[in-house]
Amino acid sequence: TLPKRVKIVEVGPRDGLQNEKNIVPTPLKIKLIDMLSEAGLPVVEATSFVSPKWVPQMADHTEVLKGIQKFPGINYPVLTPNLKGFEAAVAAGAKEVSVFGAASELFTRKNINCSLDESFQRMDVVLKAAQATNIPVRGYVSCVLGCPYEGKIPPAKVAEVAKKLYSMGCYEISLGDTIGVGTPGIMKDMLSAVMHEVPVSALAVHCHDTYGQALANTLMALQMGVNVVDSSVAGLGGCPYAQGASGNLATEDLVYMLTGLGIHTGVNLQKLLEAGDFICQVLNRKTSSKVAQASCKL
Ligand code: HMG
Ligand code: MG
Repeated sequence: TLPKRVKIVEVGPRDGLQNEKNIVPTPLKIKLIDMLSEAGLPVVEATSFVSPKWVPQMADHTEVLKGIQKFPGINYPVLTPNLKGFEAAVAAGAKEVSVFGAASELFTRKNINCSLDESFQRMDVVLKAAQATNIPVRGYVSCVLGCPYEGKIPPAKVAEVAKKLYSMGCYEISLGDTIGVGTPGIMKDMLSAVMHEVPVSALAVHCHDTYGQALANTLMALQMGVNVVDSSVAGLGGCPYAQGASGNLATEDLVYMLTGLGIHTGVNLQKLLEAGDFICQVLNRKTSSKVAQASCKL
């Protein structure tokens, strides 16, 4: 049975932009986030407090977080890879943060320059600091349906990492198909394994659409009881440390499907389309959202 409501976590301003070579001017990032807030998204991941040497596009994290309108009832989490990032995020006004790990040793090394074990230690430091200041922490697990460096990832490995993050104190675990290689059957096997270790109410899925499977994989997760879904306006995105990975599931396409299924999201599709149109013009690129492409022809 499908959920009655789904919480959409909009990751466009972070996952969507982090891979863009040309630096988007800070005021335009702020405008994008404000438009997404206007559209009624309950969570908008605003930026990441990572090293500017690693991800130059996110170097203006403080200005972005300080500059956006904070709508009541909307959360604006930011990525924090270590204590330095966490402290900078809190100083900039973050009320929620996300830590990010992976179900792959090699991806962890490429993405955050440490081993899996070291990554748990770093996350634990952030979680302890966050707990001391009552800041909720979301946890990401990357490469849950495949890894650009290790290939197939066993569902048991994903379950082990998800359990670890949950037991360290993450209130929600977002399971990322970082390179978009999964298909619904693999999603089902992976989720079944994870649901033995983490309650489904604490799970989210985060699908990239490289092979055009993101919507199908997400629907499988919904059928299994997941009711939090990450997506990116206009289908922007990718990970700088996962070459060839395309954008996330487009938020417009997700909203269209959920509305058709009678599932409540609180999102105004028209305003969302306007936000997608805006950022595509900024980036000088065509939208990856099928719904946005179709709506253009109406
Ligand atoms: P490192 O080079 O090993 O770090 O990077 P270090 O501790 O040795 O420090 C090196 C320098 O970085 C020092 O500066 C530090 O101060 C600085 P220097 O002395 O050379 O001038 N530094 C920082 N600066 C700003 N903010 C910080 C910070 N930390 C250290 N937080 C590090 C380690 C983790 C920092 C680096 O590898 C990094 O920033 N990685 C981030 C990579 C990233 O952002 N990847 C994309 C996000 S994950 C993703 O997209 C997947 C997801 O969408 C889900 C999915 O799809 O699967 C979430
Ligand atoms: Mg991602």
